[in-house]
Amino acid sequence: MARPYSVNKTACIVNDFKAGKNGAAGVSDGLCLWAAEKSPIGAAARCGYNPPRPFSDGLFHKTHNRSTKMEHKLPELPYALDALEPHLSKETLEYHYGKHHQTYITNLNNQIKGTEFENASLEEIVKKAEGGVFNNAAQTWNHTFYWLGFTPKGQGRPSGALAEAIDAKWGSFEAFQKAFDTCAVGTFGSGWAWLVKTPSGELDLVSTSNAATPLNSGNIPLLTCDVWEHAYYIDYRNSRPNYLNGFWEIVNWDEVARRFAA
Ligand SMILES: [Fe+2]
Repeated sequence: MARPYSVNKTACIVNDFKAGKNGAAGVSDGLCLWAAEKSPIGAAARCGYNPPRPFSDGLFHKTHNRSTKMEHKLPELPYALDALEPHLSKETLEYHYGKHHQTYITNLNNQIKGTEFENASLEEIVKKAEGGVFNNAAQTWNHTFYWLGFTPKGQGRPSGALAEAIDAKWGSFEAFQKAFDTCAVGTFGSGWAWLVKTPSGELDLVSTSNAATPLNSGNIPLLTCDVWEHAYYIDYRNSRPNYLNGFWEIVNWDEVARRFAA
């Protein structure tokens, strides 16, 4: 089915999103400009207006009209806050998604006011900014990517081309899981563990510290595990390995395969 927007590498316009349609109150000029992240996470995914317009291939959006500046918003999740239980509790999502993720977005919006990044896409900010702006932009991007890698309907393991690539790199899915666990558990302090596709098309594992993201490395992120303590302390206290055990139960391998094929 044709998508209701046009896509290029950095931006897309929702062509059919007219004021009033879908209850888009406040969009005075009928134009919804999405921060189209055509890359690992695909283009803009859903509109924050009521009702949301879910798309299957991405997530980010910003909105603007003639009277307001563009603003980054917390993406809606494709599942309920309690849908990932018992592996990630509703309380964890209330704090991690509702407070930590939201805070990065709030800080980002405040920090880019009046700067060169005020109307830039999130990916542009991640790739160009430094210091606090980079930290909040990257954490915004990383967390959205993280949430969209989950599904309440755990799929166990990948299939098709992705499974073949995993077998080619590590020999088996079990060996890959072990290597990913080692990467995640071995990440010192706060950071992220990533499955990435390298420029040559091979799979690899990457550990990043704090807000650092593979977006700036040339690798294409496919799957990530947030190993900041706020990601698991409510449910698993200090046991990062137990958190990894739950993580594998909710990975959305269909989404990872889509990212791999993109
Ligand atoms: Fe986090």
